[in-house]
Formats: sequence, structure tokens, C-alpha cells
Amino acid sequence: MGDDLKTKGFLDIPIDFSLDLFAEINKLKKEKNAIILAHYYQDADIQDIADYIGDSLGLSQEAAKTDADIIVFAGVHFMAETAKILSPNKKVLLPDLNAGCSLADSCPADKFEEFKKAYPDHLVISYINCSADLKTLTDIVCTSTNAVQIVESLPKDQKIIFAPDKNLGAYINKKSVRNMVLWDGACMVHEIFSLEKIIKLKRQHPHALLLAHPECESNLLEIADYIGSTTGILKYATGSDGKEFIVATEAGIIHQMQKANPNKSFIPAPPNNSCACNDCPHMKLNTLEKLYNCLKYEQPEIVLSNDLIERAKKPILKMLELSALFGL
Ligand code: 13P
Ligand code: SF4
Repeated sequence: MGDDLKTKGFLDIPIDFSLDLFAEINKLKKEKNAIILAHYYQDADIQDIADYIGDSLGLSQEAAKTDADIIVFAGVHFMAETAKILSPNKKVLLPDLNAGCSLADSCPADKFEEFKKAYPDHLVISYINCSADLKTLTDIVCTSTNAVQIVESLPKDQKIIFAPDKNLGAYINKKSVRNMVLWDGACMVHEIFSLEKIIKLKRQHPHALLLAHPECESNLLEIADYIGSTTGILKYATGSDGKEFIVATEAGIIHQMQKANPNKSFIPAPPNNSCACNDCPHMKLNTLEKLYNCLKYEQPEIVLSNDLIERAKKPILKMLELSALFGL
């Protein structure tokens, strides 16, 4: 079992195919006082078994307040790490340790530390999609839900470095008329959308509204009808009189959009390749089978040193404090 984790990053233990995994997972959850937190980008069956489904802000708020003994985090590594930082006394499990994030990887902490030296009088705001090490170099963490409000809560003349997402940073700069220094990072999923194919799709569906995540490039955001986090996109579609939507974020969110709005239609925005929709290869590493084994054997577990937890916690708590002030 230990070898599996070292070589594969997940437990590759064969599962009896006659098992009803939904029933088994529910049984294990009760026995172990465990909770499953899932991001909207997870597979539909993982979303369906989760106790809470949300965006990065909602998931961290939930991780901070749960009284479960075990958190199974169906998401990517930085999210599970954040849950561990906020709930250090709980066991935090991630079904596949390889579930990383191209955006988090685009900003190694040692390189950022060097970069930061050139801006000694700047405050650092980091998007939550980054490593715990990067969070220790950060003053305030933000998510796509609260990023604009956090920046706007600071004095206009406050000098800021924003890391690691240059697209979200450029969006905030434009919206809040700021001039934050941007780290040159991006998400592989949100950068691959084809503007040309989306414009063609809009011509074929003239009434469809384009909903986009702020991790998308600026040329796409310029033609979007709504820009927001995954929770924002879901709420907007649910509250809108529109009947058709083109969704420019990871396609997993469409599961909840369709469930909440069975009479509306959702078209995944096409990427710049031959696929019809855009999946995050990291998020999709988690499967129901890996989740079952992870809960059953309580591995792989997120383990962080107390020192790292203490240092990375400060900017996350600052974000949660500000979010509560904003009523988020
Ligand atoms: P939100 O969860 O804030 O919508 O961000 C999406 C994302 O890319 C998570 O990795
Ligand atoms: Fe990271 Fe992008 Fe995947 Fe989100 S969608 S986890 S930002 S690679």
C-alpha cells in the first residue's frame, strides 16, 4: 500500500466491481465521521456523493468550520493543502496526490521570492491557486469570488504584486483601475479557449449568453456577458431569464448548472483543439474508485509541518476575515 503512494500517488487497490460505491462511501462517511468536499470541476458522480460542492472560497470556508474528523478533499492539491492549514487537527485526504494545478505550478516559491525583492514596498496578494510555500510569501490570499473586493478595499495608492494568475490580475487592474505588478502565470484550462470558435458559436446561438471565469484571457472576457467565479456563474445562470448559455470555464460546472436549471441549455465553450469541451486534467485525476479507497484506507493524507501551517495560515485568515466583512 505504501509503495502505491510513493510510485503512483494514489491507492491502486482493486475494488470488487459488484460493490455499490455510493452506498459504501456513505457507510464509511458515517462510520468515520468524514465529510467530502468537492469542487465544481470534479466528475458528476463525485459531485453527487459530496456533502458540500463549491468554489475555492466556499470550500475553504467549509473546511474551516466543519466538525468532521476526516475531510476528503475532491479537488486539487492546493485546495486540500488549504483545508489542512485551516483545520490542522483534522485528517485531510486527497484521492490522488498527483492532482496538481498548472497555475500553482507556474509560480515556484523560490523564483517568486527573488521576484519580490525588486518590489520591497509592495503588498503581495496571491490567488488561492498557489502552493502553501507561496502563501507564506503573501500578505492576503484571494479567490475569484473576492479578488476585486479585496483589492478595492486597499488604498488607491497601495502598491501591489498580484500572483500567480496574470489574467485574473489584468481583469482586476482593469475593473478597479489599478496598476498591480503581475506575475506571469496562467491556467492551462482557461487559456485554451478558442475565441474564433466561441464567436462562431455565438452566431449560431444568437440568444446565448457567454459566461466566463476571470482566469480566461482578456480578449474572451471582453465579449463575455458575465464574468465571475464558478459559484458566480452558477448563480447568474440560475437567476437569469436567458435560456441558453455558453460556459467558458472547466466543463464540470455544467453538471450543477443543468441540475439547477433543467429547462435551460448549457454549451461548453470550445477549446483551441479538436475537443468539444474543456476538462482540467488535474481535477479529473480523482475518480469515485480512488475516493472510495482513500476514505477506506485513509490515504493519501496531506501532511504539512506546523511551521508551514502557521506561516501560510495568516494570509488565508485575512482573506476569510475580509470575506466575512463583505458578506461573502
Ligand atoms: P473558483 O473555484 O474560485 O471559481 O476558481 C476556479 C478554479 O480554477 C479552481 O481551480
Ligand atoms: Fe488549476 Fe486551472 Fe485546473 Fe483550476 S482549472 S485546478 S486553475 S489547472
